Amino acid sequence: MKMDKSRDQTSHGQTPVNKSPFDQALLDPDSFARLFMERKSVRVYEDRPVEDPVRQQVLAATMRAPTAGNMMLYSILEISDPALKLRLSETCDHQPFIAAAPWVLVFLADYARMMAWFSEEEVPGWCVRRGESMQKPREADLLLAACDALIAAQTAATAAQALGLGSCYIGDVMEQWETHVALLGLPRYTFPITMLCLGYPTEQQLARPQPERLPSDIVIQENRYRMPSKEELEALYRDRSTSATAPAKPGDSPTRGQALYQRKFGAVFSVEMRRSVSRMLEEWR
Ligand SMILES: Cc1cc2nc3c(=O)[nH]c(=O)nc-3n(C[C@H](O)[C@H](O)[C@H](O)COP(=O)(O)O)c2cc1C
Repeated sequence: MKMDKSRDQTSHGQTPVNKSPFDQALLDPDSFARLFMERKSVRVYEDRPVEDPVRQQVLAATMRAPTAGNMMLYSILEISDPALKLRLSETCDHQPFIAAAPWVLVFLADYARMMAWFSEEEVPGWCVRRGESMQKPREADLLLAACDALIAAQTAATAAQALGLGSCYIGDVMEQWETHVALLGLPRYTFPITMLCLGYPTEQQLARPQPERLPSDIVIQENRYRMPSKEELEALYRDRSTSATAPAKPGDSPTRGQALYQRKFGAVFSVEMRRSVSRMLEEWR
């Protein structure tokens, strides 16, 4: 009798233990590599739209992302208005490639929808009649909704990658809170936690090398947190600090770490992000 080699199970119905993970995975090694190991942020796109069926497939996959309590505490704004895209490219720390991206999605942490339903259902009056004060969404709820929105965003990014698109996150959408409320018509209890620019990568982008990562034994630890030693920190950040520059002040010659601090914490975008998020948080307190 011929053996059916396509089957993964032994004659006893057990899965053999000596198979490589790829033998049992849905993805072949090439697809796995393309999806995860070769991914990089793409900031230059071919000048062609993302076809409707592709968009729909990415969005359908996104809707299947895990979500806390199956509540879908997020909304997605597709930015189809070119003027709005242009404006966002300015308000999000002046990044012109946003305006040139064929497909732009803003991911909102969103408790507004649930609060609107509670209001429809007269929950506030009901709480008063019961002698209780109605609970409002707080910082913890925002974090949970932000988790939902980010997981949806990464699902969209991965689905897009699977279909040949490239993407780049825009964290700067957390800046300019008041402006974004007005531009995007955001109600209370929503917050744009991230934005994704998507499109087909140019040849140049496909050829561009991936940036280095920190060593995995520093990032992935076991059971208890281990702070890297002084020597390890020096080795970790040496390369990342080389391009760091700090404004020259008379008699000041910053070390690489001081220059990195200045670049990361002193930058205009960084100061604005902290201001913007503090202002937004007032509405969740
Ligand atoms: C939360 C978040 C915010 C980001 N914001 C921006 C951004 O505003 N502009 C940008 O060009 N890239 C942004 N990126 C992309 C990162 O710069 C990029 O992921 C990082 O440099 C590593 O490169 P890689 O994605 O190609 O591996 C962001 C990424 C994340 C995860």
